[in-house]
Amino acid sequence: MEFNSLTLQKEDKIAILKINRPKALNALNTEVLLELDKAIEELKSDQDVNVIILSGEGKAFVAGADILEMKEKTANEARDFAKVGIELFRKIEMIEKPVIAAVNGFALGGGCELSMACDMRIASEKAKFGQPEVGLGITPGFAGTQRLPRLVGSAKAKELIFTGDVIDAKEAERIGLVNKVVNPEELMDETMKLAKKISSKAQLAVRYSKMAINRGIETDVETGMEIEKDLFALCFATEDQTEGMTAFSEKRKPDFKNK
Ligand code: CAA
Repeated sequence: MEFNSLTLQKEDKIAILKINRPKALNALNTEVLLELDKAIEELKSDQDVNVIILSGEGKAFVAGADILEMKEKTANEARDFAKVGIELFRKIEMIEKPVIAAVNGFALGGGCELSMACDMRIASEKAKFGQPEVGLGITPGFAGTQRLPRLVGSAKAKELIFTGDVIDAKEAERIGLVNKVVNPEELMDETMKLAKKISSKAQLAVRYSKMAINRGIETDVETGMEIEKDLFALCFATEDQTEGMTAFSEKRKPDFKNK
């Protein structure tokens, strides 16, 4: 598939999807949002992809939603724009395959929100995170008010959103926004290493685990446990469960088939 504002590479069952609008620091305009949606739809059903890495070309991951495009919007148009972003980010969050953000630089506003829709965030030492929207006279619009408090707690999320402060990668790691901070030159290698480790496991088990965590976080603990019990049971209907446990008993490495 051809894209104007994205690049997509595939290697060893890992897809690397980069937002490629570096002159505007990868700001999310409607075109980028629609292309991202198409790419995610394509990757969803691509049998040759186990894990997706999301990153940005140039010095930014994503410096936010496109302010120049938003500037003239009416309230109704702004609601439609937020709907597109919110639905896309939800799709990224709920896609069965794991999605890792490799945060190479600015992750501000919609960029921070995009990284939070991913399952994990590996950040370059150069990365910067923040929700600076109140400085533009708006609230976060791509679910930052919902995901940030769930990740870092409501007091820290309120501090970041009310002040618009931008924090560096180390601070983001300290507050639990980022999984790991790495040297900028090692960002893609380290992220690939993580992606390949996940990709070497039984993919249905990985996907069911993601589903159990995502659904469980959004419900009460009893319901979450019911979801886990059902998904655990479902694993026993897969060939990979037989292979995983047989390989253990035969003291060899499993050969998973994603079935
Ligand atoms: N939208 C549109 N264009 C943007 C942009 C954005 N969010 N961020 C950067 N750009 C553009 C700049 O306009 C500039 O374009 P020109 O060269 O044509 O002038 C280019 O990218 C480079 O930017 P700077 O010259 O500003 O680069 P810098 O290194 O001096 O500063 C920065 C970098 C601190 C990230 C600064 O660009 C900045 O503050 N950007 C805006 C960050 C922001 O407020 N993001 C939140 C947006 S609102 C949002 O995201 C709402 C939501 O939740 C949905």
